[in-house]
Amino acid sequence: MWVGRKSGFLTRITDNWLRPSPADLKRAVGVEFQKLKSHVEAKLEEKRLEIEASEQVPASAKDRIDLSLPGVIRPIGSHHLVRTVMQEIEDIFFSIGFSVVEGPEIETPYYNFEALNIPEHHPVRDDMDTFYLDLPKSAPGPLLLRTHTSPVQIRTMEKRRPPVRVIVPGKVYRRDNPDATHSFVFHQIEGLAVDTDITFCDFTGTIEYFVKQFFGESVKTRFRPSYFPFTEPSVEFDVSCIFCGGSGTGASGATCGKCKGSGWIELFGAGMVDPAVYGFVNYDAKKVSGFAFGMGMDRLAMLKYGIDDIQVFFQNDVRFLKQFP
Ligand code: DAH
Repeated sequence: MWVGRKSGFLTRITDNWLRPSPADLKRAVGVEFQKLKSHVEAKLEEKRLEIEASEQVPASAKDRIDLSLPGVIRPIGSHHLVRTVMQEIEDIFFSIGFSVVEGPEIETPYYNFEALNIPEHHPVRDDMDTFYLDLPKSAPGPLLLRTHTSPVQIRTMEKRRPPVRVIVPGKVYRRDNPDATHSFVFHQIEGLAVDTDITFCDFTGTIEYFVKQFFGESVKTRFRPSYFPFTEPSVEFDVSCIFCGGSGTGASGATCGKCKGSGWIELFGAGMVDPAVYGFVNYDAKKVSGFAFGMGMDRLAMLKYGIDDIQVFFQNDVRFLKQFP
């Protein structure tokens, strides 16, 4: 504005006043112009120093940040495969109206056993070798690490009236010796649906839908009679062998090692809720019916992703974990 070469004030004064001024006045005008010019230059210099001082110039070159250098790239973690599979299973059940509930890992024998129709001295308790907490003698009663997610069935029914449609993912604990298929801590996902008109067909239809969504449309399912104290009838669900396609023979014609030639793989236990269980939660067994299931999540992950040792889920070796981002 003041010193611009083309149309700054000083240029315009030079062009319009100084140069055309009559010869006798030129000197006087020139003196006045010089005064103005010095004044403007002094003001501009003052401003320049002020701006320079306000800029935070780094103390030394080493403090200066070079914005053109590439940044430090920190590795980003990924979901654990069990977490991914849990999400897959949850999404399938969300799509048919189930919601997720959770329960405590430290339980009382009442929820873990009694209310599930497993009284004391029932032989099933032996199959679930249980970790009991070491409590002082004054404690009101024994506590244990839940051996399955089924106690959350009871906790849910105590709190809600039918219709109930929930799944329960979580950790469970058993005194098992670790090997390729056993771990003293593993993951289950429980399911429970109770309403006034749930039939055995609803039950098998739901399970079949889940299995096909999870493993793919081409798998077949079947169920076999089984026994659980809290379901009647109880079944064991099988899926046609994912490795040999159900033929029982591998690519080389040899017997399939995964299903041992049977063409079927055992998946999980399930059944129609035993009326005795309703008695523990004040549901009217004459009015309601429902089904339940309990699946080993690690086992489902192993089958789907071809993993043959459950221990890898708990060793947390990043070389393994990184393969399933
Ligand atoms: N709780 C059983 C177990 O851990 C699994 C199970 C079987 C759960 C049948 C169920 C069911 O809800 O209906 O071995």
